Amino acid sequence: MTSHSAMRTLLSDPRVSKDAHQHWPEYAEGAVVLDSILATWVGRRNMFGAYGDEHKRLRSLVSKAFTPRRINSLKPWIEKITAGLISDLAAGPQTTPADLREGFCYPLPIEVICALFGVPEETRPELRRVIDGVFNTSLKPEEAMAIAEDLYKLMYGFVAYKQANPGDDLTSALIAAREEDGSRLNEAELVDTLNLVLAAGHETTVNLLDQAITALLTHPEQLAMVRSGERSWDDVIEETLRWNAPVANLPLRFAVEDIELGDIVIRKGDRILAPYAATGRDPEHHGETADRFDITREVKDHLAFGHGVHYCLGAPLARMEVQLALPALFDRFPELSLAVPAAELVPVASFISNGHRELPVILKPSTA
Ligand code: HEM
Repeated sequence: MTSHSAMRTLLSDPRVSKDAHQHWPEYAEGAVVLDSILATWVGRRNMFGAYGDEHKRLRSLVSKAFTPRRINSLKPWIEKITAGLISDLAAGPQTTPADLREGFCYPLPIEVICALFGVPEETRPELRRVIDGVFNTSLKPEEAMAIAEDLYKLMYGFVAYKQANPGDDLTSALIAAREEDGSRLNEAELVDTLNLVLAAGHETTVNLLDQAITALLTHPEQLAMVRSGERSWDDVIEETLRWNAPVANLPLRFAVEDIELGDIVIRKGDRILAPYAATGRDPEHHGETADRFDITREVKDHLAFGHGVHYCLGAPLARMEVQLALPALFDRFPELSLAVPAAELVPVASFISNGHRELPVILKPSTA
């Protein structure tokens, strides 16, 4: 089902759950054992896979750190990180292809999320490797299991490190809250919550930057409209989220009871995949031009950050990072262009993550 309105209805329906332990009978009985990378997505003990009051409890501690006000206070710091990355790019090759995904789209969100959660520099490359694996839905079962094992080894090690070396960061705050009142987050919940926020902070904003830059470079007339002030960077961000949702499909939800939806019935225990990218292209909601990138369109709403109780906690942070990053990039490199035809950009190997393996660009054309 790829209808915007049907998906929106389901996302706010209390008869739809993300808790496999309670609402996927075959999983709860052990008749289904996930041996793909989905094992790291389904059945985890965090807000992402929780239902009802349990979801509220698991979300409430973390949500305090993600209020729009708190996020706004990070603005000067994010501007500084962005400026540093742009200087690094400017110091590198200008007229030969540079991979902007690696040199800009990745480092900004990673730097932000790792600093917020106090991940030490030396842990970051391994964290990036395992989180890339979590989004790679083409892994063979043995590769997926190895990634899951490495992920948990890394996370338990990280929590132990933060317990011994608390700092002024959100991981230390979560640990302190847990130690003050042991009933709030047990160790598995703490580890799975950190997995969730660190993974979300790694890949999703990376894809939004990647897709927004690609869209602007392939629609120069719209880039000109933003640069002249005729349209805003927010228009670019919202249209990119609709046109190429950074999270293409999200596993998994379960029907708590039979649900009638138009002329179909979703049976109790059935699995539901949230197809965010497809709902962004639904012509019934977005009109006949739904497939077209158009920052001037009237109907801008989308489901790219989800909807209902699981609505993305990091949406204000992601939006702010991209609002700061895009103008800074295009101001510094006004002649930025793709180094290959857009049709040659290769998607990442994932049905969840919607980005490119590389984003080769020329920062400045050769004058020779
Ligand atoms: C462009 C960037 C981002 C996109 C497109 C995105 C997308 C999403 C989506 C679609 C969901 C809903 C999942 C569902 O259907 O149940 C979600 C949930 C979530 N996101 Fe994001 N996200 C982004 C950035 C971030 C960032 C930077 C963080 C920071 C930590 C974050 C943290 C979370 C968390 C914690 C949840 C789970 C909320 C819950 O289950 O209650 N996201 N995100």
